[in-house]
Parts: sequence; C-alpha cells; structure tokens
Amino acid sequence: MSRLVEKIDPAKLPVHVAIIMDGNGRWAKKKGLPRSRGHLAGVEAVRRIVEICGQIPIKYLTLYTLSIENWKRPKSEINSLLKLLYETTRSELSELIKNNVRLIATGQLEELPFSRRKAILHAIEKTSKNNGLVLNLALNYGGRTEILEAVKKVSQEFKANRIRLKDIDEKLFSRYLFTHPLPDPDLLIRTSGEYRLSNFLLWQTSYTELFITNTLWPDFSKKEFLQIILDYQKRERRFGRL
Ligand code: IPE
Ligand code: IPE
Ligand code: MG
Repeated sequence: MSRLVEKIDPAKLPVHVAIIMDGNGRWAKKKGLPRSRGHLAGVEAVRRIVEICGQIPIKYLTLYTLSIENWKRPKSEINSLLKLLYETTRSELSELIKNNVRLIATGQLEELPFSRRKAILHAIEKTSKNNGLVLNLALNYGGRTEILEAVKKVSQEFKANRIRLKDIDEKLFSRYLFTHPLPDPDLLIRTSGEYRLSNFLLWQTSYTELFITNTLWPDFSKKEFLQIILDYQKRERRFGRL
C-alpha cells in the first residue's frame, strides 16, 4: 500500500474525485444477506476511501449517496438508507472533525425528512471550518433536475434585468448548479461494472476521466483506489486540443 502511495506523482493529482458507489445490493445478495447489510458494508468502504483521500491528499471527494431516482425503490429500502445515513453522520462526526474533513452536500436536501436532514446539517456546520478533504455527499441528487433548476434561476435573473443574454456563458451557468463552487471532477469512478452515469453530474463530467471497475462497492479497497489514481496519472487529458 505505502509502495503504491509513493508511486503517486503529487504534481498530477486529481483535484476532485467523484464516485458512483454501486453494488451494495448485489454484494449482499451474493452472501445471502439482506440488502441493508450491503449498505452497511458500503459505509465501511466510505470510511476507507475518505481516509486514503485525506492521506494522498485529494482536495474534493464527491460520493453519489442517494439519487432522486432512488426514491422509486421500495419504501423500506429508502427508509433504511436514510436511517443509515443519519446514524453514520452522527457516529462519524468526531472522526471527521479529528481528521480535518469538511462535510458538504449537493442535491435537494430540503426534500429529505427533517429528522434525517438535521444530523447532516449539524455535521456540515460542525466541520465547516476544517480545511482538509472536502467530502461532498450527493444526496437526493439528480443531474437533469440540477440543470433545470439552474435554468430557472438564470431565467429569473434575466427577467429581473440582473444579467444580460450575452453574459450567459459556461462559467456563469456553472454558478447556478448545486455543485457550485466546486471544480468539475477530474476523475469519476463507478463500481460494480455498470457503464452508465445514472444522472450523476451530467454538466460537470464533460471532460472527466472515467474509470469503471467490476468491484462491488463494499469490496472497494484503498489499494484499488490507489491503482486507479496511478492509472489516471498515465492518461493524457486533451480537452479537445491536439
Ligand atoms: C448502491 O448500491 C447504493 C445506492 C444506490 C444508495 P445499490 O443499492 O444500487 O446496489 P445494487 O446496484 O442493487 O447492487
Ligand atoms: C446510482 O446507482 C446511484 C447511487 C450510487 C446513489 P443506482 O444503482 O441507483 O443506478 P442504476 O439504477 O443502476 O442506474
Ligand atoms: Mg445499483
């Protein structure tokens, strides 16, 4: 592990890594366990990856924690996911503070049940002065909704004569996205071998490097994460240029 860390070129680190943490349910099914046990094991993987990101160090880590579309799952699953999120945020808060992690969230938080949201808002507030890893939870997040919300806000500004049509460019538009002021992700990892974005950061990933692994999220290790960072460092990012 430390051998892999040493191989990393500090000058070519991704500033922002985003992860679609997928495969908790399949992990549990393979072991003959209820899906909720897969989510519980997924929390352990989050702990590992947050730790290694702080160590490398990565500046921003965005984790796709709950999509808007996930509300289409059975109520029992959603409730257990929200409960787990609540309990984890509460139990991990002291660890986040100790490790200088700043917690933030991206998505429609106001639509989460108040009792669950409270713990997250509390942790966000308590870690707001930390200047280490920024851990961004994409919560009740949907890429298309985010773009539409931005369109509405920009339209209102235009209608109120606060912006002119010619001012609307990519930079201005980005300011109205849920992710503002985060930079676009440099690297997007998806576990469990699915080759899709599932409505995640649609605007922000236009030039993001993609990495898909067959590993199910609860099995995702620090070692594999480091190997992916090394793979990323070998890539040539061209952004359309020669
Ligand atoms: C990812 O695991 C966690 C969330 C979507 C919250 P899944 O629950 O999607 O697991 P699979 O895809 O069914 O294996
Ligand atoms: C994406 O995983 C959402 C999260 C990881 C929170 P899903 O399991 O919901 O995605 P699909 O349904 O397989 O596309
Ligand atoms: Mg899934």
